[in-house]
Amino acid sequence: MTVCLGIESTAHTIGVGICETDSGGHAARPRSASAGAIRVLVNARRLYKPPAGQGIIPRVAADHHAEFVVPILQEALSVADVSLSDIDLFAFSRGPGIGQCLRVSCAAAKFLASGHGKPILGINHCHAHLEVSRGLLGMQDPLYVYVSGANTQIITENLRCKKGQSRFLVLGETLDMGLGNLFDVFAREAGFEYPHGSEVARLAEKGRYFSLPYTVKGMNFAFAGLLTSAVRSLGEHSREDASHSLMETAFAEICEAAERALCLTGKKEVTVCGGVAQNRRFCEMLSLVCSEHGARFGVAAPEFNADNGAMIAYTALREWERGKRETIGSLKPDGYWRIDEVS
Ligand code: FE2
Repeated sequence: MTVCLGIESTAHTIGVGICETDSGGHAARPRSASAGAIRVLVNARRLYKPPAGQGIIPRVAADHHAEFVVPILQEALSVADVSLSDIDLFAFSRGPGIGQCLRVSCAAAKFLASGHGKPILGINHCHAHLEVSRGLLGMQDPLYVYVSGANTQIITENLRCKKGQSRFLVLGETLDMGLGNLFDVFAREAGFEYPHGSEVARLAEKGRYFSLPYTVKGMNFAFAGLLTSAVRSLGEHSREDASHSLMETAFAEICEAAERALCLTGKKEVTVCGGVAQNRRFCEMLSLVCSEHGARFGVAAPEFNADNGAMIAYTALREWERGKRETIGSLKPDGYWRIDEVS
């Protein structure tokens, strides 16, 4: 039995999750070959809310995380009914993310690991979104459609890798902003209530479509022209119609790129993960693409698509059983750590 405590603090969320597994194997192998079941014991989290009309203020968000990391840790230990001495492995989100926020989980995990004489792993936040979705959905080797605030990428694993190795490959991605940030900036420009993405989605359900700029280049896509036009359209179109047209256009761009990736790779499984994976309409559109290509579509429960600590613990256990080891002195936050740099 191995118990891992993971801490997340890349952006607006401070989260602590605890997971356990019976598997103890240490073998170099592709991630898709991991077999042991992992149980999520607790997934405690608290959200920093920016001031009205503004995005995340890094220093204030980091102060929020520093203030609440101990209460959230205590809540997680209490709900899971474990003590710190029961933890075999500590993990934290090492990047990508906001530098000031990343330092909170890094410092907390290092303090706990050194204080209890236990090992520590620094986990890539994007990798954690992918891994927890794949694992909880029982998928083997899916095509990943990763849609969050800052990141929007179509990712595969194991292409052109030697046996026993594993590497992520970004087949396509946004050429400017992430999907969540697109909705966030649009909503702030339009004066919508927080949370912005949910408000755009709510209004979009009542709207009708009008044409907006659509940019797909191979398996890459872009949103800047779409955003500018959608904001400008607010003078002549209703908020509902503008929200609807913005969402439909952005989702269609990603679906076209994902379909191209599906044809290229021949994958039989697709999972959508990250914060925007909670959008019902996007899941509906992507599942239609999958059904046309005979691929299974899956999306994990909302608490695992929002930023959370359980996905950090979950991924750390998978990496630990694959034989990954790190020293505490070598670990420092990396705000620009891309998924295709994870080895
Ligand atoms: Fe995230």
